[in-house]
Amino acid sequence: MKPFILTLAVSAMIPGANIAAEEIMVTTNNTALVLDVADNGRLYQKYLGKKLRNAAEYKAIPNAAEAYITHGMEDYYEPALHINHADGNPSTLLTYVSHTAGAQPDGSTLTTVTLTDKEYSDRVKLFYQAYPETDIIKSWSEITNGEKKPVELEKYASSMLHFNAPAYYLTQYNGDWASEVNATELPLSFGKKELDTKLGARANMFVSPIFQVSLGESATEDAGDVLVGTLGWTGNFRFTFEVDHQGALRVISGINPYFSKRTLAKGETFTTPEFIFTLSNEGRGKASRNFHDWARKYQLNKGDETRMTLLNNWEATYFDFDEEKLKKLIGEARDLGVDMFLLDDGWFANKYPRKGDTQGLGDWEETADKLPNGIGALTEEARRCGVKFGLWIEPEMVNPRSELYEQHKDWVITLPNRDEYYFRNQLVLDLSNPEVQDYVFGVVDKLKTKYPDIAFFKWDCNSPITNIYSNYEKMNQSHLYVDYVRGLYKVLDRIKAKYPGLMMMMCSGGGGRSDYEGLKYFTEFWPSDNTDPVERLYIQWGFSQIFPAKTLCAHVTTWNSSAPVKFRTNVAMMGKLGFDLKLDDMNKDEVEYCKRAIRNYNVLKPIILEGDQYRLVSPYSGEHTSTMYVGKNDGDAVVFTFDIYPRYKQSIHRSEAQLRMKGLNPAATYRVTEIDRTDGKDRQIGEYSGDYLMTVGLPLFTLNRLTSRVFTVNKL
Ligand code: DGJ
Repeated sequence: MKPFILTLAVSAMIPGANIAAEEIMVTTNNTALVLDVADNGRLYQKYLGKKLRNAAEYKAIPNAAEAYITHGMEDYYEPALHINHADGNPSTLLTYVSHTAGAQPDGSTLTTVTLTDKEYSDRVKLFYQAYPETDIIKSWSEITNGEKKPVELEKYASSMLHFNAPAYYLTQYNGDWASEVNATELPLSFGKKELDTKLGARANMFVSPIFQVSLGESATEDAGDVLVGTLGWTGNFRFTFEVDHQGALRVISGINPYFSKRTLAKGETFTTPEFIFTLSNEGRGKASRNFHDWARKYQLNKGDETRMTLLNNWEATYFDFDEEKLKKLIGEARDLGVDMFLLDDGWFANKYPRKGDTQGLGDWEETADKLPNGIGALTEEARRCGVKFGLWIEPEMVNPRSELYEQHKDWVITLPNRDEYYFRNQLVLDLSNPEVQDYVFGVVDKLKTKYPDIAFFKWDCNSPITNIYSNYEKMNQSHLYVDYVRGLYKVLDRIKAKYPGLMMMMCSGGGGRSDYEGLKYFTEFWPSDNTDPVERLYIQWGFSQIFPAKTLCAHVTTWNSSAPVKFRTNVAMMGKLGFDLKLDDMNKDEVEYCKRAIRNYNVLKPIILEGDQYRLVSPYSGEHTSTMYVGKNDGDAVVFTFDIYPRYKQSIHRSEAQLRMKGLNPAATYRVTEIDRTDGKDRQIGEYSGDYLMTVGLPLFTLNRLTSRVFTVNKL
């Protein structure tokens, strides 16, 4: 990518007129968002699209709609902002005050536009942070009560964007537990479509905070204009897509206002979460690569570091283990050649030992009869075996059968005068309460202090917020959803500050937590409890739309053991590779294969985890799928191919018979080799120009069920 030369246009204001002398430009290398202050002093979106060569020409474009539409004025569609003022007036009229634009230390540019409602002195700041070379823009807002009395915030979107295209196609990623992120595309016509969640402690279960809107025609992997957006918020979100009577599309993104009215005290400011988007003119694949590059460079905790392979005991033992079994597994982690052993749920609680999911959550002391020598004996064993040690926790939650619940019912989110109902037999602790924040921080802090060898936490969260009532919020119950998430971030801030080296997996009963604010703290996430490799092909395809491979924990398990171990491993190699089985679950040859696969993965890691991902053939399109990763700077590549369930005598679809690669240098020559074969012997395919591989391609699929292959494409 070419370096971006930053031109900072801090517009001069026309004295007294509150009108910016020129357009407010938010630009990346390829995208421009142009805002304009009209004669009435209000802020309009003039343009959002491909950057024009000549910036002077934006002037010729008529203003579209008001940039951040407010309730109670002339517009008849969904507003971005709704404030009920202290005097009961529910309307807001925002006019321009000033704007600034400045280069940030990380190379991005932050533009801040300040607006006010002159009648009430409330202030609204709109922020746009542009990352030039990755074409990502973050936008969020800040609302300040300038009145003498409290006001009520009813709607407070992070962002509002306007589009004008002949047609719009929305791709949403919805599903359920163990069936996350299924892509569904639908046309948007007049009216409103909302994607929202009300799960409280997580963003995702039924629908993920990822969307794509194709403008004009449905975008393919390589062609078409497509907006891809997500909200950085580990809680209730809402995306509103509304096509008006003139065929214009408005996209409003932010916290779900559902049961979330906020009282803002005099002088208080509310800051919304970041809406993060890219606008690609080269289809969905480019949009994904924009997100991947941006995340690794700017957002993801330890985005520039590699990730550890691991052996997890969850599916190997569930709750049924003791010290001896775990020590054996730690030895197996060493024998396999992974970097870490991860001890999952079931190691804690004594009065109500955690022998199933009905009790013990909240009592974070080792169960004495399972682990008489504590976690220390295990970290010691891990050290002896030369592997790191990771530990599962779920510190935001409590089982009613626990000492914590008996002692601190006031810390639990539960309705005072109703029977409790449970999601996975548990309740959520009230993170809006600073005492609870201290307690949750203390869970990690105590474990790390006692066992400094813990290198990794898998932080689970198996219940949405249920029985919604906070003892702490008292008369402000509608603050709970937001304050819960903010409380969580306060805890995570403290952990990150005190233990900067710690790696953590974000997990929420599968892929319930998968958002970019969470990933400022976590290094990776668990996409699904469904580890059937065929299902994972779809799930990884879905999450790869915005998340890079290094964030996607992918484990080889015994699910769908009709699929060969190689198939299961190859699927997992496309993310952050782990194993969740006992070596006894495999025969000798399979174990040997896995050891070789881990060695192969370690060699390929820089390409898979840091490279450019190209989704070549979608699992949705038929019986085969393929994804390829190309090392940065014109480097070597690796191609994964999967034949899922080709039908009897089916011929490979013509478009897939020759698999065409992407992202290579057409002028360079590459050696293509099939590696990672079960016989341990590499197979030379041949030497070809990048041009040939991308234009003609190679016959890399087979007609055999559940078959996978891995090809290296090395530049000569
Ligand atoms: C749900 C997670 O998604 C699983 O991986 C596992 O950690 C269980 N919780 C443990 O209770």
